[in-house]
Amino acid sequence: MFIKIKSLGLSFIAVLLFATYSVAQDEGEKLFKVKCATCHQVFKDGTGPKLYKVRQKWEENGAKEGSIYQWVNNFENAAASDPYAAEVVNWSATSMSKFPDLTKEQIDAIFDWIDSQEQKTESSATANDQGGDANVIKKEKSTLWVWAIIALILLTLTIIISSVRKQFKAAAASLSNEEYEKLSFNEELRRWAWENRKKVVVGAVLFVMALVVILFLGLYQIGVVEGYQPSQPIEFPHSVHAGTNGIDCKYCHNSVEKSKTAGLPTINVCMNCHKQISGSTPEQEKKIAKIYEAAGFDPAGGGKYTGEQKPIVWNKVHVLPDHVYFNHSQHVVAGGVDCKQCHGDMTKMKETAKVQTVEELNAVEGNIKLTKRTLTMGWCIECHNEKEVSSGPLNSKKNGYYDELHKRLIEHDKGLYEKYLEDGKVTVRELGGWECAKCHY
Ligand code: HEC
Ligand code: HEC
Ligand code: HEC
Ligand code: HEC
Ligand code: HEC
Ligand code: HEC
Repeated sequence: MFIKIKSLGLSFIAVLLFATYSVAQDEGEKLFKVKCATCHQVFKDGTGPKLYKVRQKWEENGAKEGSIYQWVNNFENAAASDPYAAEVVNWSATSMSKFPDLTKEQIDAIFDWIDSQEQKTESSATANDQGGDANVIKKEKSTLWVWAIIALILLTLTIIISSVRKQFKAAAASLSNEEYEKLSFNEELRRWAWENRKKVVVGAVLFVMALVVILFLGLYQIGVVEGYQPSQPIEFPHSVHAGTNGIDCKYCHNSVEKSKTAGLPTINVCMNCHKQISGSTPEQEKKIAKIYEAAGFDPAGGGKYTGEQKPIVWNKVHVLPDHVYFNHSQHVVAGGVDCKQCHGDMTKMKETAKVQTVEELNAVEGNIKLTKRTLTMGWCIECHNEKEVSSGPLNSKKNGYYDELHKRLIEHDKGLYEKYLEDGKVTVRELGGWECAKCHY
């Protein structure tokens, strides 16, 4: 039996390793799709060369050790110190972007993911290479490995149970037939558990550990989309509008205080101003010309609408799965949470919007510091555990919302209310912000 426990332990370790490995692979896939897929494909040359087995290629061509990592961080530095890298620069007239923040481990994760792809058929390979649907593809995959782990655990459980039955049969042989008949399955199990209590404890601890790991790696990491920044039909800079020109967020995201969604502006909203403002540099003019094209507007000679519209569609940046319920007005109005807390300081955003990483969000002044990845379930519930419901701006405006809330709580269950207040604050969690059904359909 001891050997069995040992092999059980081993299989749990295998589960752990498997989980960590998947997360690393997952990270590689995410990084590739967010940072590299705009120019690189796995099996085909595009703007940049195909990247399948590229580490091997560099090694075989006599590149200096480690220079490929330097290349990704900053290709110019690599070209200056490694003759092979200097050759690669001539591959095309376009140059590669620099990624000074990527660590060697992250770059390896990208290459590991690339090398793990299989070239099945021409069409499936290209479908996989398109950065666009990255999210969808990724989500399916990550759910798959969670299920794989659950299946493994169930399997292990089945093995334990069947070994329990066998052990008991053996033990039963030493009991009289009459005694044996009298035992129900429950008693049978309890008796066995008592006789093997040490092993049961070890097994239970391992089981709980595995569950925690699943919860932690699985639910807290599933579908991590930090850094996701899809391309947009028009290169709209928030910094110029919400920053320099101080336009209120609600001017363009006009339902953010009234409904579940914040809403994205239509081209007519842009035209309110851009009918007059066509840009002061050639670069601006080029970008703003796309607004005119979409609205069917000819700015020449005072400007007139031609009627030939080409509607544009903004690509969604923040995307939660369909089974999650998130409400903006609940957070912004009732909860008094600032846009900055979840989206970063958009008044400084020079590029199009992206999902800010937890590190970027923590660096914004006044934000509650969180540790879980942005937009994961862990992120939502961590904040619900930290955030007081009694500190919103509505409270300071004394409009009675929170007074009413506290009053209702007291009337409902005074004892419970006092328990909530023990730590001096009522958190979202204490009002039900951790209930599955509040967030899941
Ligand atoms: C803006 C486009 C662009 C992006 C984004 C980009 N690359 Fe490149 N990459 C290139 C180009 C172009 C080359 C070929 C060298 C040249 O012409 O300067 C290249 C070359 C490479 C090479 C050498 C390939 C070979 O065959 O020797 C590697 C490795 C590489 N890139 C990795 C990456 C990784 C990893 C990322 C994402 C973190 C990335 N690249 C993102 C454009 C890009
Ligand atoms: C002049 C109009 C305008 C103003 C003002 C504006 N936005 Fe936007 N916002 C846009 C447009 C257009 C997009 C879509 C393009 C993009 O994603 O960059 C967008 C996208 C976003 C997104 C990403 C949406 C997604 O798809 O997930 C967020 C978050 C956002 N804005 C927040 C803000 C905040 C916070 C403010 C105020 C500080 C603000 N915006 C002010 C026009 C505006
Ligand atoms: C508590 C976190 C949180 C706060 C605060 C918050 N948002 Fe969001 N925002 C989200 C999430 C989560 C999504 C994705 C929603 C989805 O996919 O259902 C999102 C999506 C968006 C979008 C994309 C369009 C949409 O409605 O899905 C815009 C635009 C946006 N937010 C703007 C804002 C603005 C402006 C504010 C401040 C007035 C704000 N948000 C405050 C979390 C937040
Ligand atoms: C309230 C007025 C206002 C609205 C509404 C508005 N803009 Fe602008 N926009 C400006 C101003 C002002 C500038 C700066 C022009 C300059 O510097 O000459 C500008 C500049 C721009 C630029 C050039 C930025 C650069 O420097 O690269 C783009 C692109 C742009 N707007 C797109 C949009 C889009 C798309 C919308 C609709 C979602 C929009 N704007 C709505 C006022 C507005
Ligand atoms: C930065 C903090 C913060 C984050 C992040 C956050 N929330 Fe909240 N949430 C709040 C606050 C504060 C309230 C309380 C609002 C109120 O007083 O009604 C709340 C309330 C809620 C409620 C209503 C709970 C109830 O008891 O009625 C739901 C549902 C909810 N949030 C969903 C989400 C989801 C889904 C996410 C992640 C995508 C999320 N929240 C992320 C702060 C946050
Ligand atoms: C505060 C909001 C919130 C609460 C409370 C919450 N969840 Fe979630 N949950 C989320 C969000 C957001 C996601 C999506 C995460 C992602 O896509 O990365 C999620 C994802 C999940 C998933 C993964 C599904 C998938 O996308 O593959 C499961 C399973 C899950 N939740 C179960 C639960 C259970 C069980 C509870 C109650 C104990 C619970 N959730 C409570 C917000 C919440």
